[in-house]
Amino acid sequence: MLMFSLRGVAFGALVLASTSLLAEDGSAGWLRYARLEQSAIAALSKDLPAEVETLDTSPVVLSARSEAQKGISSMLGRTLQAAEVADANGALVLGTVAEVQQRFPSWKPGAAPQAEGYILRTIKSHGHSYILVAGADPNGVLYGTFRLLEKIAEGQDLARLNDVESPAAPIRWVDQWDNSNGTIERGYSGRSIFFDNGTVRPDLARAGEYARLLASVGINGADVNNVNADLKMLSPEMIKQVARIADQFRPWGVRLALSVDVSSPKVVGGLDTFDPLDPKVIAWWQKAVDDVYAAIPDFAGFTVKADSEGRAGPAQYGRTPMDAANVLARALKPHGGVLLYRAFVYNHHADWKDPKADRARAAYNIFHSLDGKFDDNVIVQIKNGPIDFQVREPASPLFAGLPKTNVSIEVQATQEYTGQQRHLVFLIPMWKQVLDLDMRAENRSTPVKEIVEGKSFHRPLGGFVAVANVGLDTNWLHHPLAMANLYGFGRLAWNPDTSSETIARDWTRLTFGNNAKVVDTVSAMLLSSWPLYEDYTGPLGLGTLTNILGPHYGPGIESAERNGWGQWLRADHDGIGMDRTVATGTGYIGQYPPELAAVYESLKTCPDELLLFMHHVAYTYKLHDASPYNGETVVQWVYDSHYKGAAGAAKLVEQWKSLDGLVDQERYAQVLALQEYQAGHAIVWRDAVNSWFHKMSGVDDAQGRVDHFPNRIEAEAMTLDGYTPVDVTPWETASGGKAVVCKEGATCSATAELQRPAGLYDIAVQYFDLHDGVSTYKLYLGSKLIGEWKADNTLIFNALGGDTSTRYTIRDVMLHPGDTLKLVGQPDRDEPAPVDYIEIDPAQSKVAAAQR
Ligand code: GCU
Repeated sequence: MLMFSLRGVAFGALVLASTSLLAEDGSAGWLRYARLEQSAIAALSKDLPAEVETLDTSPVVLSARSEAQKGISSMLGRTLQAAEVADANGALVLGTVAEVQQRFPSWKPGAAPQAEGYILRTIKSHGHSYILVAGADPNGVLYGTFRLLEKIAEGQDLARLNDVESPAAPIRWVDQWDNSNGTIERGYSGRSIFFDNGTVRPDLARAGEYARLLASVGINGADVNNVNADLKMLSPEMIKQVARIADQFRPWGVRLALSVDVSSPKVVGGLDTFDPLDPKVIAWWQKAVDDVYAAIPDFAGFTVKADSEGRAGPAQYGRTPMDAANVLARALKPHGGVLLYRAFVYNHHADWKDPKADRARAAYNIFHSLDGKFDDNVIVQIKNGPIDFQVREPASPLFAGLPKTNVSIEVQATQEYTGQQRHLVFLIPMWKQVLDLDMRAENRSTPVKEIVEGKSFHRPLGGFVAVANVGLDTNWLHHPLAMANLYGFGRLAWNPDTSSETIARDWTRLTFGNNAKVVDTVSAMLLSSWPLYEDYTGPLGLGTLTNILGPHYGPGIESAERNGWGQWLRADHDGIGMDRTVATGTGYIGQYPPELAAVYESLKTCPDELLLFMHHVAYTYKLHDASPYNGETVVQWVYDSHYKGAAGAAKLVEQWKSLDGLVDQERYAQVLALQEYQAGHAIVWRDAVNSWFHKMSGVDDAQGRVDHFPNRIEAEAMTLDGYTPVDVTPWETASGGKAVVCKEGATCSATAELQRPAGLYDIAVQYFDLHDGVSTYKLYLGSKLIGEWKADNTLIFNALGGDTSTRYTIRDVMLHPGDTLKLVGQPDRDEPAPVDYIEIDPAQSKVAAAQR
């Protein structure tokens, strides 16, 4: 019998991988500064001076210098000597434009960079090369230095550097949703790097390393605590503590920000009100802000979540977001701080029975009428879409609804609704389709990116915010490839015109090196990943279709319906989708400027990828004739896209495997394990969503795949010894709606006699990996053990269902008619060694060979 376990593949890879590739733990992110090939070193060295001259002594410029020394030593094996005034043999010169001009009076900078921008220029003086990094200010010097190091990492020519770069907008922030007890809301990579046990961690080394990563892509602000803010955040003791985080950030030009709760004056200040217009409350905020600035002179500002999801807010006193925002902004103003007020304000007790109720309308309804009334250091922070970071949403109409207000876009790098850093989903293309969307405000070109940059409506402030949620995991985000989202966010915030391809390729080069096959393969994986995730989750604008009442991870389609959260699909046996038209629906579409509203209002022009967000149609409604929809019905498209998406997830495994030996062992094994997991979980998604649509619509899959699994043996249909069948909720998250479980302390088995024609097969066991236990599974063919594994994934969920369903595959097993397959499960603590089904498919290796 020939057999080969998946874990065996990963282990084999460890042994076979080239020894020249040192294992890497991912802690360096994209700032690895890996040693270049000898030829590249030789080519670069001829243009690289031996000394670095620093014209500015600010901590940020000194960071730039140490970074240049570190990077060059690591990549090229050369020491860059620091000199006060370099000798006449050339130098890398770091300073502001004014300082560089003073040093080289004949140098003509040409076009000046904007605030935080830089010039990179190679000049000759007395026959020697000087590489100038001339920043508009110290941050510009640092960003220019990082850019130079990136060029070196990519082996670019240094002889004729001539770049002028400026950031697109002043606000380029990350938000962490860290709680002071050390947990992170929607964090998927360990505990907080900032907080523990109600206070700031004693050791903040990771905070400094994080700021360095952020600075390397131009991010200049970080709000470190949850938007659902701990009310103690403004206590004198806490301010003293968070000032230590600001100390770590400062050398990297990253300013600290905090989320605050507007009820603080009452709850922690002891006042009898937090009415923003009450003079006592105004005075309380001024004092609180003054105290923050006394401890943190370069404090960036506050983020506010109010009247949202149970948080207190000005509505309690009949006041508006403008009233609350302006009071805080006025306290911040004398110190140069800003106030980011989140537009994520909605009623989560909406009336599901009201056909006109629509959560998507909330932000525009509340904020549009306040346009022009916010102070000039207020920025209204708008989530990319009107709901909540779903796999696809239209751009929020509010972007076009506040022409007299500063606005920023909020995107979510932490993959709350997009696979929680266990699925590979490169979000840059998703963010770009919102940023690039032309809202046609005032019937002219107003792409979202230009609105948030402040260009469209000539606003002084604006920008980009990403919820990032890195954690203490060594590699920051759990999935090594998830770091591309953090990197890419910085690149887009600096210049939203940068293409997804450029970002994917640059990140890959920095993260895995310049090998062409690695760069091509990893960037292809990244670029395919969002569309395929959308394919196997919620296509056609339905939202992710995850369990919105649970962890937002696995499938849970109907969790969206019949409750106050307002993520309704409005599905019945005849049709599906929210009618948001002006003509017959909630009127949401009327919040867009007229030209765009007309596109969405008409079924003829509404893009199919947003169809069910905007319209309610029959399952048999035909999509557009053009590719890729080709006039398919809604329900058949759902079936097909789910099969396509799951196949795409399986392909990611093969693509990654083609890099065996070209990527260091540690990260190779980590990514492989995650991609294999994703491929299995994509099947869970595929089957759950398809079965649900099948049942709801009553329409069969034209290709006969849905709910028809000839190669599958349901666990409950096997001969059970000790195992008992249980119903799984929701039903669609287990095959046949059932699983089998074993009692604690027992050992149970499920046996089946096989009648497969002799041949090679892949045997997949679908089981549930709960958090609170590590069950052991053994699979026997006759008396021979062919697989043994433990349910030891780091999933944090505890119920049988779509969040925990996991697949273990044993490949290339030789079967004969009459063979007996026996699965033995041994529970551990609260995990009852649960099993859903076993699937026996012709071996992929054979299928692949036949296709060749
Ligand atoms: C989502 C998320 C919450 C978060 C909220 C917000 O609803 O699930 O955890 O608090 O967004 O952005 O405020």
